[in-house]
Amino acid sequence: MRDFNEFNITDAVIERFGATPNPRLKQLVSRLTAYLHDYVREVEPSFEEWLLAVQFLTRTGQLCDEARQEFILLSDVLGISMLVDAVNHRLPDGATETTVLGPFHVDNAPLLENGADMSPGMSGEPLYIEGQVIAADGTPLEGAMVDLWHSDQDGFYDVQRTDLVGPIGRARVRTEAGGKFRIRTITPSPYPIPYDGPVGDLLTATKRHPWRPAHVHFMIAHPGYETLVTHVFDADSDYLDSDAVFGVKNSLIREYVRHEQGPMPDGTPVAGTWRHLQFQFGLKSRE
Ligand code: BEZ
Ligand code: FE
Repeated sequence: MRDFNEFNITDAVIERFGATPNPRLKQLVSRLTAYLHDYVREVEPSFEEWLLAVQFLTRTGQLCDEARQEFILLSDVLGISMLVDAVNHRLPDGATETTVLGPFHVDNAPLLENGADMSPGMSGEPLYIEGQVIAADGTPLEGAMVDLWHSDQDGFYDVQRTDLVGPIGRARVRTEAGGKFRIRTITPSPYPIPYDGPVGDLLTATKRHPWRPAHVHFMIAHPGYETLVTHVFDADSDYLDSDAVFGVKNSLIREYVRHEQGPMPDGTPVAGTWRHLQFQFGLKSRE
């Protein structure tokens, strides 16, 4: 077949993928072709605009390495990460809603005892986190692995700071009887997603800000259940309605309750104010 034009080229490309043996791959590439061709027909990019787009994607790829994933960041600010999350997590009642993993998770964070301090020596308003992990049907899950991490009072994760010997501000803890866990830390702050690359340029050009509201990340695993990846957002934080990556859900917002004086619930003395976060996490069964 020859003589392709703006009306017949889409079907020709899809037909060229016709012999793809894997039916799912065939669907993915055919529908991608159809949507991208429709996009081009609708917006009619000039050659300069097309080249700019190619240069943008090239820079996005060139910035990716072990520590930086600019393509996922692009997916995040376009709302695609949360959309992929949504279509993969249609949850039963009682299961906690999910949100983005983000780039700052680190495997094998220190495994701490319940009640330990996961941010020793860090400045910030102390935060006492108490959680319970249950199945969506209400059964408490003892022995669940709770992996948690968050920004410091200046809005940085340990992996972003060159002046720190980490890991710090991150830990794993196992749930005890009744599915309960507790950990001491400091209160996280809002922070900007990395904006020194092409994704930041896109935000600037479109007058969008790069900020995320203050949150603690949780990844919770237990055999027989889907691993839960979520955050709990501070109800007092800025940016809850304009999160740069569209990750906020009402059910994930909690008051980090401020107390004017100590001690904390486990008797730990505190000099000034401290905060208390309590949350119950529901896991979806794999069956
Ligand atoms: C985070 O919450 O750590 C995060 C999520 C998406 C993009 C950047 C950071
Ligand atoms: Fe985060």
